Amino acid sequence: MKTAIVYYSMLGNTKYVADKIAEQLGAADEVDVIRIEPAKAYPDKGFKKFFWGGKSATMAEKPELAPYDFDAEKYDRIIWGTPVWAGTFTPPLRTFIAENPAVKAKQSAVFMCSGGGSDKKAKKKLAECLGIEAFAAEVLLFDPKDNVKDEDAGKIEAFCKALME
Ligand SMILES: Cc1cc2nc3c(=O)[nH]c(=O)nc-3n(C[C@H](O)[C@H](O)[C@H](O)COP(=O)(O)O)c2cc1C
Repeated sequence: MKTAIVYYSMLGNTKYVADKIAEQLGAADEVDVIRIEPAKAYPDKGFKKFFWGGKSATMAEKPELAPYDFDAEKYDRIIWGTPVWAGTFTPPLRTFIAENPAVKAKQSAVFMCSGGGSDKKAKKKLAECLGIEAFAAEVLLFDPKDNVKDEDAGKIEAFCKALME
């Protein structure tokens, strides 16, 4: 299956997982990785980081994105990657989905990173945004780059296995 991993990562945890999934799935599938960024980066330090990112997520904003290269027609499956912000998924994905409505017809899977909170509401909101009932596979990791744990490797492996079946 031709797969695109589309993700946003402010501080590298989601990128860390995206790279691991690309490596593992890449053994079986053709995988492209598309990292999306807002045209104007969110503040990434201190109080401002939580304030502006949290506000943008809560308001369901669609920030303008920096240029990216993506053609939905090339892919059978999209794997979405996002941190959990204020209980939901990050705004750059919202913009990306709006700009590429053809992704809604693809198989979707999702990985999320949080600081310890649940991804339940974030997954529900992302599924709503995509107009789908459920994801083909899903996994949540807690700051996997900043706090490396043995169990995370197993979680990522199980996620990839579910997609390779
Ligand atoms: C604006 C903002 C809001 C956040 N909101 C939550 C939250 O609601 N629940 C949670 O568990 N973690 C929250 N976090 C923590 C991140 O989800 C977590 O650190 C994640 O691993 C960061 O991914 P990244 O390194 O790819 O940016 C928030 C972080 C930021 C910057």
